Amino acid sequence: MTSIIGPASYQFFGIFPAAILSFILPVVGIGLFAYIMARRLAPLVRAAPDYRMDRIGQRIIRLITIWLGQIRQPRYMLAGVLHIVIFAGFLILSIRSTSLVIIGLSDGFVLPGFGGWLGDVYNFLKDYAATFVLIACIVAGIRRGIFKPARYAVPEKYGKDHTAEAVFVLGIIGTLMISESLFEASELAFAYQQTGEWHFVAPLSLVWLFTHMLTGASLNFLQGLHIFSYFLHDLTFSFPVLSASGQTLSRDHTDLPVMFSCVWTKEKSKPVEYRVSDEQLDDLESFGVKKLEDFTWKHMLDFYSCADCGRCSDQCPANAVGRPLSPRFITIKARDLIFKIIRCR
Ligand code: HEM
Ligand code: SF4
Repeated sequence: MTSIIGPASYQFFGIFPAAILSFILPVVGIGLFAYIMARRLAPLVRAAPDYRMDRIGQRIIRLITIWLGQIRQPRYMLAGVLHIVIFAGFLILSIRSTSLVIIGLSDGFVLPGFGGWLGDVYNFLKDYAATFVLIACIVAGIRRGIFKPARYAVPEKYGKDHTAEAVFVLGIIGTLMISESLFEASELAFAYQQTGEWHFVAPLSLVWLFTHMLTGASLNFLQGLHIFSYFLHDLTFSFPVLSASGQTLSRDHTDLPVMFSCVWTKEKSKPVEYRVSDEQLDDLESFGVKKLEDFTWKHMLDFYSCADCGRCSDQCPANAVGRPLSPRFITIKARDLIFKIIRCR
């Protein structure tokens, strides 16, 4: 009796160790990620100052409620609920994705502490997380690609429509869910055929479904699928996700700016220029934004993190009455401008 060969021990064509690929893919992904981050940080370092480290308590509360709790998402109910599912699932699955990277180098690797009951509970949760994230991606893809809600439309004067990018990103996330589940299901189906024992998996989850579908498949097919799904996951995770890479997927809107967002009050409003008193304003050659470096680093972070959702323009009174003002396109144009400048430097 044999057990399925994991990616750490598998050899392509019987000679080339798959572990080499398991090593190279994440390393290249991390390298790309570091490179992109360094390029993105460069303009931030040269940007105007913005003091956002006061009232740390309030900022942490906002981080927990807005970032982690996603409490503002349901202001647009369907899009919001779908996002909460994708976001929560992603948080849960990030642990699995990390351990999968190591499984490529060491078969059967289990994160410290995840060997016993905690691991069983986690696996149960992550199987459902992958299932619900896939369902959310399919619904979101249909919503964006077929129903096309008006707020995402891009008027001709502002450039190209971004529907294809949005659907592509949803497809990438869906691919991660399917490949992760197939990787596990092929192993379980293989073990079932060899031992006749059925390993418990979360009922009706994607892994459960795939395992049932695969119980009759040949051992060779299961072995091939196991390795293929591993590297499909590795490739998808290491490049588009880990590196949040390229210009298409650069909408890495994980909203770090929440931590630094306005907690201004009537008593403590934002000055026109930092370190310049109201009396000194008349002596300035210019204020506001005239060149790129006049934006503060917080402005730039906001540009980077825009999800291109059109919620701001949808709520903007000037935009609603047809004035040529769109907070969404100001943000996107500013980001494109920064990217253009980064490319030229
Ligand atoms: C951490 C804070 C995050 C914030 C504040 C945030 C915010 C947003 C917003 C405002 C939208 C637009 C929603 C709409 O269309 O009305 C969006 C879209 C999206 N977000 Fe996030 N996001 C976060 C993290 C994540 C993470 C970790 C993922 C994981 C993959 C993710 C995946 C997506 C996807 C796929 C869309 C497009 C959904 C669609 O087109 O229907 N987001 N996000
Ligand atoms: S700036 Fe506007 S378009 Fe961009 S994420 Fe915020 S609300 Fe959406």
